[in-house]
Amino acid sequence: MAAQKKLWAGAGAAGGLDPDVEAFLSSLAIDSRLLVEDITGSMAHARMLGATGILDQASAGALVAALQALLAEAKEGRLRVDPASEDVHSYVENELTARLGDAGRAVHAGRSRNDQVALDLRLWLRSANASIRKAILEALAAILDLAEAQVETIMPGYTHLQRAQPVTFAHHLLAWAAALERDYGRFIDADARADECPLGSGALAGSSLPLDREMVARELGFARPSRNSMDSVGDRDAATEFAFASSMLATHLSRWGEEICLWAGAEYGFVGLSPSISTGSSIMPQKRNPDPAELVRGKAGRLYGDLLNLLTMQKGLPLAYDRDLQEDKEAVFDAYDTVHASLRAFAALVRGIEPRVDRMLEAAGGGFAWATDAAELLVTKGVPFRTAYGLGKALVEACRARGLDDVAGLSREELAAVHPVLGELGAAALAERFSPSACVAARDLVGGPAPARTRAEIGRLRRFMAAEGRGEKVPSP
Ligand code: ARG
Repeated sequence: MAAQKKLWAGAGAAGGLDPDVEAFLSSLAIDSRLLVEDITGSMAHARMLGATGILDQASAGALVAALQALLAEAKEGRLRVDPASEDVHSYVENELTARLGDAGRAVHAGRSRNDQVALDLRLWLRSANASIRKAILEALAAILDLAEAQVETIMPGYTHLQRAQPVTFAHHLLAWAAALERDYGRFIDADARADECPLGSGALAGSSLPLDREMVARELGFARPSRNSMDSVGDRDAATEFAFASSMLATHLSRWGEEICLWAGAEYGFVGLSPSISTGSSIMPQKRNPDPAELVRGKAGRLYGDLLNLLTMQKGLPLAYDRDLQEDKEAVFDAYDTVHASLRAFAALVRGIEPRVDRMLEAAGGGFAWATDAAELLVTKGVPFRTAYGLGKALVEACRARGLDDVAGLSREELAAVHPVLGELGAAALAERFSPSACVAARDLVGGPAPARTRAEIGRLRRFMAAEGRGEKVPSP
């Protein structure tokens, strides 16, 4: 490896770095991903140096023009980052100097790599965050498109993986949507923490030059300059919150990946998986496997690793900047790449789900899933709930004793023996009231599975998505 051209060359003792240490310290392989952000931040800095008179107009103008050229080259993939640079910041400054001479050597006035890297990371986080939010909206759209057609599709709802009460497939899907909406909010929160411009914090103590921090913050689209120069160069909260929001989202995706795997198995048989989202076996010709859903489930561990990496790296770090912080980028880049790919795969999974509505309905009918409805019916007739609960249980026992899983076959006497009101209502009326679709229709309350509630919730989510897609701030529901 060629010796690095260091910005700090000549500062200190004679003799170079040990080659192993030099390679160990280099972050270029990771942080060259911040090339566009580094150039963008440098441009705002250079403009400010000109506007404040710290640099003469000619030098500032030459810097801005050279940075514009670098930006265009970087965006077109034409910029060949010199692998001998210590990091991306060194590369950009060295390149400016190579192109401009002394004007290039002037760009770092009032700036340190410490506030520079903090800025670059925030700029990167802000667009990563927007990109994840967009992918969340796309996944939400896939969920709503599927749910819309399944508002009346009865399926069993589970607790403890035991059939509990009937719900609809749409209601289950909207449970996914509810969590995704929270994830979306978490990324907005994480973005608010990234929305301060660190530039002007210098190495840790600001600068004696008359920098205009407001101008730089404005130009780069930040709400304001950061509040404290020492905090600012060592603060990685926004990166950590991004990793947490990603971990939480991955946790949700993991749970849903597992549900899709369960549903696709013969034991449930609730869904088929289109060829776009299932794989074959190399040995068993008959198989279709839910590998994509499994991998979405599996990626969560990697996100937790990234989050824990960031938290542990910061633990116990004294103010202000320490080189440990260089480790932040690999973790957030990996978190972004992993969660973004998982989200896109998940949206495809949802689009490839083929509901087997007969299987869902059949499963919802068994297991005395109407027992809570029986108790609640008695509550409406004035029976205290705990008593009604016991009577619901007695009704289930009466069916079991007769080998029935439904009240339709019970005589008026058998019903009356459980409770006179049941005898009066009679088996036919009760069986109708306890049918899975009647149980679902009766849960007509906010957040419930009744079809009208589900349609209203789909409508609300669509309006939320449309407003967010247009970039409007919508008040939280
Ligand atoms: N590559 C470094 C990082 O990512 C840039 C900051 C270096 N600052 C320093 N004082 N050595 O954190």
